[in-house]
Amino acid sequence: MENKYLSGFGNHFSSEARTGALPLDQNSPQKAPMGLYPEQLSGSAFTAPRHTNLYSWLYRIRPSVMHKAFKPLKELTLKTFFKPLHINPNQMRWNALKEESGNFIEGIRTVCGTGMSHEQRGLQVHLYSFNQGMQNKYLMNADGDFLFVPQSGSLQVKTELGFIEAEPGEIVLVPRGMKFQVNPLKPGNCKGYIAENFGSPFRLPELGAIGANGLAHRRHFLTPVAAFEDLEGPFELIGKFNGELWSAEMGHSPLDVVAWHGNYVPFKYDLRKFNTINTVSFDHPDPSIFTVLTSPSDTPGVANVDFAIFPPRWMVAENTFRPPYFHRNCMSEYMGLIYGTYDAKEEEGFGPGGGSLHNFYSAHGPDVEAFEKASAAELKPFKIDGTMAFMFESRIPYMVTDFAMTKNFLQEDYQEVWQDFKKNFK
Ligand SMILES: [Fe+2]
Repeated sequence: MENKYLSGFGNHFSSEARTGALPLDQNSPQKAPMGLYPEQLSGSAFTAPRHTNLYSWLYRIRPSVMHKAFKPLKELTLKTFFKPLHINPNQMRWNALKEESGNFIEGIRTVCGTGMSHEQRGLQVHLYSFNQGMQNKYLMNADGDFLFVPQSGSLQVKTELGFIEAEPGEIVLVPRGMKFQVNPLKPGNCKGYIAENFGSPFRLPELGAIGANGLAHRRHFLTPVAAFEDLEGPFELIGKFNGELWSAEMGHSPLDVVAWHGNYVPFKYDLRKFNTINTVSFDHPDPSIFTVLTSPSDTPGVANVDFAIFPPRWMVAENTFRPPYFHRNCMSEYMGLIYGTYDAKEEEGFGPGGGSLHNFYSAHGPDVEAFEKASAAELKPFKIDGTMAFMFESRIPYMVTDFAMTKNFLQEDYQEVWQDFKKNFK
């Protein structure tokens, strides 16, 4: 691990794949070492405050500008990045995607989303299912960061700054504007979720009364060391601009960065390293204690999107209904399941790879079986184990795509799980 990744979140890193490739004193010397071209990639406005200012200097074999004109890829866009157009107040739940044959970019399906990439707010939720490498194709998303949540199959994510390998249980972030390629790490199908964040870049949440330790720790975020491809031949750069895919031919691999320094970087994080905080007396703290990463909005304390997880944890609360309680939320909740069983849903409808949406103020909570079991349970310390569910919690309600309404994907009978509560009132 030590050789492949640099540890830390928000750090300013330096890395070189060839000793001496990184200029030591200047960002843009008249002649960079080894005949490389210096190029800056910014992730924030130049004048953003220091703690949110993001940029990296890349030292590459050829400058990024060296590609032919972009042409629209209308058919591929229609197959993958569906437009979230319809508001729906219903509790909604979906099956997992089928195993699809093709590469990563062909295997994306948008389920829901909110906000606008060109207004830099909101996010979209995509699923992916693919079994082939991208070969001579590379992607550059000008719209948002891609937060990958692999559910089955390990990923190889090659980026301009280096190469990441991630298995289910880990997440990967590729920042907006960075060129990358996603391949199956091993032969087989890869499935998972993506939050495409249009808002401010994800950062670690404030810790408040928790103090210095707890939740996701900075040192567990891993950024790849510099790695590059010195390849010539026919290559295709696929760009995503305002939800539409475009294609540009080029004569070399765009992953030709030999050295870099900066803090605008891709990373991975192992969700199993999350230090979970919860009650040791009674009741539930709000689920914000499960936040791994947050994309703040302009309003203090109100996230554009929070990425939260429901990891293995001990349940010790006394005299308490322990599963997630019934609630109605002003925020909107997309949930997915990486593995195991979620403790508010005992029946089979919420399976690994599936998803659910409880949009603004849609009532939800445990199903009848989970409610009755938890109400009668003997409250001994108990460990919820072997499970990892997550939530993309959005400030703005989600709209759903036509694809999300597809028969055999959408579970049309979802409301049935709540219809048989008994009247216990006496
Ligand atoms: Fe909820």
